Amino acid sequence: MSLKVLGILGSPHPFGGSGMLLRCALEAAQREGAQTKLLSVYQGEIKPCQGCIQDEEPHCRFPCIFEDYGKELLLEINEAQVLIFGTPVYWYAPSGLLKNLIDRMTCLENMVAYGEPSYMEGKVVGIITVGADAGLTLAGAYLLTTLNAMGAMVPPWAHAYSRKAKGAIYDDRAVMDAINVGILSVGLAARLKGLPGRLSYLDDPQLLEEIRQKILAQKEAFEKEDGKTKAPESRP
Ligand SMILES: Cc1cc2nc3c(=O)[nH]c(=O)nc-3n(C[C@H](O)[C@H](O)[C@H](O)COP(=O)(O)O)c2cc1C
Repeated sequence: MSLKVLGILGSPHPFGGSGMLLRCALEAAQREGAQTKLLSVYQGEIKPCQGCIQDEEPHCRFPCIFEDYGKELLLEINEAQVLIFGTPVYWYAPSGLLKNLIDRMTCLENMVAYGEPSYMEGKVVGIITVGADAGLTLAGAYLLTTLNAMGAMVPPWAHAYSRKAKGAIYDDRAVMDAINVGILSVGLAARLKGLPGRLSYLDDPQLLEEIRQKILAQKEAFEKEDGKTKAPESRP
């Protein structure tokens, strides 16, 4: 059975800078034989964590007390072997909605309080951050540290970043790094299953261009479709 890779987008723009780099990582993961899916934190309501863990009551356990889109995401996260987070940098940090999801993920980790391993254990994580200015590494390091503290594993070259904002897809270094986030995350997850998997950086300008063109074509198709469905008065 192929590895399940879940891409989690923290941007309101499906084809903004972080969305497109995340898609590059997922495309690369798919080419490594993985099954991929992309979900955005903007697709539904994610209620903010209300800190049940403090009550010492048996509430903070998977899949959380709330019946909302956040729960759907938690269920998807639990099913995946690889999680790749793509987020814009909002004030030196991941976007607020993504932070809400991270807080809600406490219920996966807190299974240790019920005599089980953390449900994040054995999962592999990769990170993509996109901004226009500063805070790219801070936001990425925050996510890597936090997810690792929940029990997840980090492959080599696990963080791709660009400060080219919505033009990130034209940032060669960042696109190659994002492709590597996909390949190496799947590589580590495969190794954990005793299968062969790549763990060294791939520098392949031809693959970079191929994947970039594919994502740009997806963006064009999305914008055409979006233009058809949006009422003329709501267009900027
Ligand atoms: C609320 C807000 C805060 C932001 N803070 C930062 C920041 O601290 N550092 C930075 O580099 N860019 C910052 N930006 C710019 C975004 O990261 C940039 O526009 C990015 O392209 C958005 O990603 P997206 O295209 O994937 O949506 C901020 C944008 C917004 C809306």
